[in-house]
Amino acid sequence: AVFDAVDFDAHEGVHFFDDPKTGLRAIIAIHSTHLGPAAGGSRYWTYASDDAAVTDALRLSRGMSYKNAMAELPMGGGKAVILKTAAPKNDAYLETFGRAVDSLGGRYVTAEDVGISDADMVVVSRQTRHVSGLPVAGGAAGGNPGPSTAEGVFRGMRAAVKHKLGRDGFAGVHVAIQGLGSVGYALAGKLAAAGAKLTVADIDEARAAKAAAEFAGRHVPVDEIMAVEADVLSPCALGATLNATSIEALNVAIVAGAANNQLATPADGARVHARGILYAPDYVINAGGIINVATEYLGSGDAEAVTKLIAKIEGRLADIFVESDRTGTPTDVVADRMAQKLIGR
Ligand code: NAI
Repeated sequence: AVFDAVDFDAHEGVHFFDDPKTGLRAIIAIHSTHLGPAAGGSRYWTYASDDAAVTDALRLSRGMSYKNAMAELPMGGGKAVILKTAAPKNDAYLETFGRAVDSLGGRYVTAEDVGISDADMVVVSRQTRHVSGLPVAGGAAGGNPGPSTAEGVFRGMRAAVKHKLGRDGFAGVHVAIQGLGSVGYALAGKLAAAGAKLTVADIDEARAAKAAAEFAGRHVPVDEIMAVEADVLSPCALGATLNATSIEALNVAIVAGAANNQLATPADGARVHARGILYAPDYVINAGGIINVATEYLGSGDAEAVTKLIAKIEGRLADIFVESDRTGTPTDVVADRMAQKLIGR
């Protein structure tokens, strides 16, 4: 079924790991190593079926190829999906995953993603050096990518607000944030500090309530956040939230958030465009984390160098928005074309 999957896009390799001893089941998809080792995080999640897990690995790894290319990193694209089961995610389990990563000999470099912490990555790193996103000393590049991703989303959102609303900065701009995890929470803090008005939601309601109290915003049930009337919707939970139904219900001028693969299908980019809503392509705006961990892995700079690279996200998105206006092409298509050119496809 892999070769026929709609999301199979001449991936260089799709690797399956099954360890009866620890119960680890993982898929590592390598989309492209054209620009360098395939880099992308590890997602630990419950999937409805094995096929759904494969689809996620295929989509996420291709997204990483595009993301790394657009972030100007000398890295290809890959992603690991760890199928969450009743098996405990203990040291033996994570070390087995580390050996799986190591077996690919550096063609794939892992990091955290949803469900995997930097402490988990430390355990993974006992078995392979092809790990980034480990905790680091102050001033160095690397560590938990969440705050860097939030910084990139903040910058990218600012470019969108400028382009679409003609406003400099966030004073009085209303942002609805879906998901207050490692990225969403940090983003909420930055936006609040910049004067934005916030509406937030999380399936963990206590977390949403805490963020609302801390950042003087309001919190709403998860099934309401996508249709909240605001200037910006920022999807920072899981992907595929933008579909025909949810797009119809959007009540914002801009969609700009961290979640990977926000568009459920390619047609949804055109739908958002047709509604006159400005969409910041996910893999361009959420590259801050990978910029941070790649700089650490490559040993190519310190925290200051990372900040400079992340700052470029703002101008890159502004270019995409201008090109989209000029050609009448949805922003996701503009970004894909730029990325494909960079990875030689
Ligand atoms: P996280 O796991 O720390 O947080 C996700 C949050 O979303 C959790 O608080 C969870 O309770 C909440 N959530 C889940 N489903 C929800 C729903 N239906 N409605 C509302 N809230 C919901 O994950 P993290 O690291 O903050 O990442 C968020 C998104 O950004 C993910 O899609 C991830 O792939 C993407 N991303 C993260 C990067 C990073 O550096 N951590 C880098 C690039 C993308």
